[in-house]
Amino acid sequence: MEIRDASILITGGSRGLGRALGKAMARDGARVTLIARHREDLDKTLFEIRAFGCEAHGIAADVGDKSAIYPMAGQSAALAGPVDILVLNASTLGAVPLPLLMDTECEDLEQVLQVNLIGPFRLAKAVAGAMSLRGRGLVIGISSDAAVEAYPGWGAYGISKAALDHMMRIFAKEFEGTGVQFMSIDPGEMDTRMHADAMPDADPATLAKPEDVAERICDIIRHAGDFQTGARVVASRVEVA
Ligand SMILES: NC(=O)c1ccc[n+]([C@@H]2O[C@H](COP(=O)([O-])OP(=O)(O)OC[C@H]3O[C@@H](n4cnc5c(N)ncnc54)[C@H](OP(=O)(O)O)[C@@H]3O)[C@@H](O)[C@H]2O)c1
Repeated sequence: MEIRDASILITGGSRGLGRALGKAMARDGARVTLIARHREDLDKTLFEIRAFGCEAHGIAADVGDKSAIYPMAGQSAALAGPVDILVLNASTLGAVPLPLLMDTECEDLEQVLQVNLIGPFRLAKAVAGAMSLRGRGLVIGISSDAAVEAYPGWGAYGISKAALDHMMRIFAKEFEGTGVQFMSIDPGEMDTRMHADAMPDADPATLAKPEDVAERICDIIRHAGDFQTGARVVASRVEVA
């Protein structure tokens, strides 16, 4: 899938992996629209991208807020054109320090599912129908190894990521033949605020830089046609030509 000239909507675009993806894709000639809750961080990232003469837009909104989803989809299409690539990247860990599942408040699980699963579901629904009418599009769910490994303490987050992966697989089957592709990408451990919140004692030197992971994800997107729709791809393991 071409990144150049594509309209790309990225949730969680103000810092970490989403920011790195926004920068890499905009530099490659995409029109990017970034979503995050906090306007100040978003504006900083937009400023950095525009400083390279690239096109970037920002929408301050919460993916866990159902009333924000259709405005997000509509505004991004109005700002950057119909969405060609949707990256469902924004995510929350829930309570930190990470509690065992038996110590997790039901309301905390609900909140994690709102942000990591229901919001992405709503946004994919709002965008993928128009993609299928145009006969092309790519929807990426940013996953985690916690979707497949049962790490104690990562319950709410892991459940949400496992469900996100499966949602991508089901959408993939249901959209077969439309030209709209779905995939999950596990970015691996990165030196970001989320990682620091989850594992404050980790040595940042042992973690991947989000910028390097973003470059790999861009390569995966350029070669998306080599993957089956619905595939779960581990960014650090896949070789793309
Ligand atoms: N870091 C890792 O080691 C790691 C490993 C595996 C998977 N991942 C996955 O990679 C993705 C990116 O993680 P990251 O480490 O880059 O996280 P991060 O540094 O914490 O950045 C999260 C981004 O999402 C935004 N965000 C958070 N909640 C939001 C909400 N409710 N609505 C809209 N935007 C929201 C944040 O901005 P605001 O706070 O302003 O909203 C920020 O831009 C996530 O899906 C994560 O699960 C990360």
